[in-house]
Amino acid sequence: MLKQVTKKAAGINSRVCAVLGGQWGDEGKGKLADVLAKNYDIVARFNGGNNAGHTVVVNDKKYAFHLLPCGLIYPHTTNILGNGTVIHVPSLFEELEPLTADGLEWEGRLLLSDRAHLLFDMHQAVDGHQEEGRGSKNIGTTKKGIGPAYATKANRNGIRVGMLKHFDVFETQLRELLDYQHHLYGVDVDIEGEVDKYKKYAEILSPWIVDGVHFINQAYDDGKSIIAEGANAVMLDLDYGTYPFVTSSTTSVGGMSTGLGLSPNKIETAVGVIKAYTTRVGWGPFPTELTDDTCGGMVPRDAPGTDIGRHLQTVGAEIGVTTGRKRRCGWLDVPVIQYGHMINSYGSINLTKLDVMDDLDEVKLGVAYKINGQRLLPGQMPSTLEDLYAVEVEYETMPGWKTDISKCRTFEELPSEAQHYVNRIEELVGCPVSFIGVGAGREDMAVAQFV
Ligand code: GDP
Ligand code: IMO
Ligand code: MG
Repeated sequence: MLKQVTKKAAGINSRVCAVLGGQWGDEGKGKLADVLAKNYDIVARFNGGNNAGHTVVVNDKKYAFHLLPCGLIYPHTTNILGNGTVIHVPSLFEELEPLTADGLEWEGRLLLSDRAHLLFDMHQAVDGHQEEGRGSKNIGTTKKGIGPAYATKANRNGIRVGMLKHFDVFETQLRELLDYQHHLYGVDVDIEGEVDKYKKYAEILSPWIVDGVHFINQAYDDGKSIIAEGANAVMLDLDYGTYPFVTSSTTSVGGMSTGLGLSPNKIETAVGVIKAYTTRVGWGPFPTELTDDTCGGMVPRDAPGTDIGRHLQTVGAEIGVTTGRKRRCGWLDVPVIQYGHMINSYGSINLTKLDVMDDLDEVKLGVAYKINGQRLLPGQMPSTLEDLYAVEVEYETMPGWKTDISKCRTFEELPSEAQHYVNRIEELVGCPVSFIGVGAGREDMAVAQFV
């Protein structure tokens, strides 16, 4: 039996619900945000930028969101990019184009926090330049300029969206910033071209800009319900992730509060989105990765070194929607989920892509880490690469279900072996599973019996 889970804990009808990635990204946050958005007034992004890639499939139509909240698909929602995000305006317009072509009416429903930082082409150039400079130690960033944009924010010479309403000062700040970065990194920037572009953007964007912090709190006070759609994931969090192989924002629950200006008291539930196995795109430690023994855990990211790794990659279509890179694949890493649950305190888990494991004869769960023969406690996660690369994983093996589960709509309809797999995860993590993904479509969910 699934542990008891309420609709609130599942995020179906809570006031404020955070949808958070519980691994290394691409768990299916976009799909859940879309499924839940049906009952919500506001969908807000609080961190990251267009490094995210959130895919939503509705009636076989695929939508790819990067910077925009997935809530836009539902016409009743208002969507906002919160102060914790970094916004590359040309990409914003590019992302809106296909939505416009599909007849999706977004005008008036997309707001930008005046405190969000602008991410310029220059930040992207610096990202590429820094990655090149790292040589074989490159992070494998999305090259969308995320790290450099948060760096200028922390360095206090970043430029916020609200400055577009004061274009004269904006222009001076932009010239100074581009000149500064040019001297620091030697990247070439067409300063005049940028100033001209932003003059036009400022006119178009002016009506979209709001005091985001006041907006979200006023909405809360007015009884509106809010989804905070997380980007990236806990193991990519700047503080909690596998540093330095991380992104540059706070991807976990605290980021929701600082990235929107919403008090932690107002967060009613956080749903942890967890893929039934593990993937990672980009470099860095991955203890349960399915690799060739000969490759010492560092196989190229586009070539999982075992048949099972390849199987998960192929059946799961594990190719990044932002960069087109193949994702590295491995068994579910329970210590990662326990660690994420400790930090984020999930009300429930959305276990996604269970259907991808349908054909496996047996399935494994990485249940504990050992370093030098010493078993770590649940919630303990090594902070150094040296320890993370030294981790030995203890596995539990279970029979596979060898059944097509794509038509299952309740937990009870799943084959007993699949139920056992889900139950064991709940037990080890200490958190109930509310939704189980059995396909990419909006309706492809097996749901728990809610109490
Ligand atoms: P996100 O970044 O967390 O939103 O996840 P992505 O959209 O990058 O990656 C998840 C991929 O898996 C997308 O292509 C989804 O359409 C797909 N997907 C989501 N849930 C399921 C599921 O339960 N089963 C299958 N087969 N695909 C899923
Ligand atoms: P969603 O929201 C998967 C990874 C990159 C790289 C590292 C740093 O779709 O789950 P960055 O460009 O942010 O500086 O890259 O983080 N990364 C993601 N991986 N899904 C994401 O977002 C990611 N966002 C960043 O691949 O390893
Ligand atoms: Mg993604």
